[in-house]
Amino acid sequence: MGIDYLRLSLTDRCNLNCIYCTPLEKNGFLPHEDLLRHEEIARAAAAFVRAGIKKIRLTGGEPLIKKNVLELVRLVRAIPGLQELALTTNGLLLGELAGDLREAGLDRVNISLDTLSRKTFREITGYDGLDKVWDGMMKSLAAGFTEVKLNVIILKGINDGEVADFAGLSAAYPVTVRFIEFFPANKRSSGFSRALFTTAETRKKIEDAFGPLVRVPAGNGGGPARVYALAGAKGKIGFISGRSGYFCGSCNRVRMDCAGRIYPCLFSPPTHSLRESLRESADDDALVDYIKNAFLIKSEYKKDSASTGHIEMSSLGG
Ligand code: GTP
Ligand code: 5AD
Repeated sequence: MGIDYLRLSLTDRCNLNCIYCTPLEKNGFLPHEDLLRHEEIARAAAAFVRAGIKKIRLTGGEPLIKKNVLELVRLVRAIPGLQELALTTNGLLLGELAGDLREAGLDRVNISLDTLSRKTFREITGYDGLDKVWDGMMKSLAAGFTEVKLNVIILKGINDGEVADFAGLSAAYPVTVRFIEFFPANKRSSGFSRALFTTAETRKKIEDAFGPLVRVPAGNGGGPARVYALAGAKGKIGFISGRSGYFCGSCNRVRMDCAGRIYPCLFSPPTHSLRESLRESADDDALVDYIKNAFLIKSEYKKDSASTGHIEMSSLGG
């Protein structure tokens, strides 16, 4: 499978403190001088596009807390040959920024939201922010974003009572509600291993409430999700089954963190770093060759050879 999708983490910081994500270690954040500056990110992104990337997704931490993120969106969107620029966010700042992001050229947004209860939101994230995220979703739709996706992680004993409510959202709104199987990424999330709620369990709850799901085409940026719809629904329902399913064979992605380190696989250590080359002003052709070399070793990494427990989703962006 060719590599044409780059997940680009803009920051390792977040304005939420989720029980299964925020690193346990204090002061785990990268020092400021290690972070790529806007021009460095845009130059790296342009080299990735020349190396074959067609779609870039901005991630975090929380990408919308990156200073002057709109300028960065404009810079990246202007790269010739880039077909799609998307962003994954916790949605807190989307209410303020959705319209400007759309104007800056962002093509799509995915919003992470695990609960529709204000109380549970506070328990999961440490912040009373459900209304803001909801407003962010509405403003995104109003701003003209299509294929808006909600990423939902169901955890046993925490929000597994909300599966049908989330599925119901897909009937009422033109969004794709995607249930993502939780996996133990860092030390903190390893504590929730027993809380895994599988795709099969989620699907059963939905079908018990609404009847059989009908498979539909995944649409834009389908990725590893299997997509279905309820009868007569405005939106869709997707499942990303990273635990019970296996999609390494069709993986088309590579990741770069906010310090310029390249990860050929979500489960691999960083194998290359662009920061030095960018700062030593290597020429663009050399950057492209270096990135192509990083792509070559992707096939050596597979989920089943991975040891989890050390993946910081907060800096790698999922
Ligand atoms: P689309 O462009 O809309 O398809 O987005 P996306 O699904 O690629 O991106 P998003 O940021 O919404 O991420 C969805 C989630 O899918 C990630 O956070 C992970 O939980 C899961 N995921 C993405 N890539 C991988 C992968 O390579 N392996 C595993 N196990 N899970 C992944
Ligand atoms: N397992 C699975 N998905 C996760 N995400 C964050 N942590 C985990 C985890 N441990 C998802 C969030 C977000 C996406 C980028 O990563 O739901 O939407």
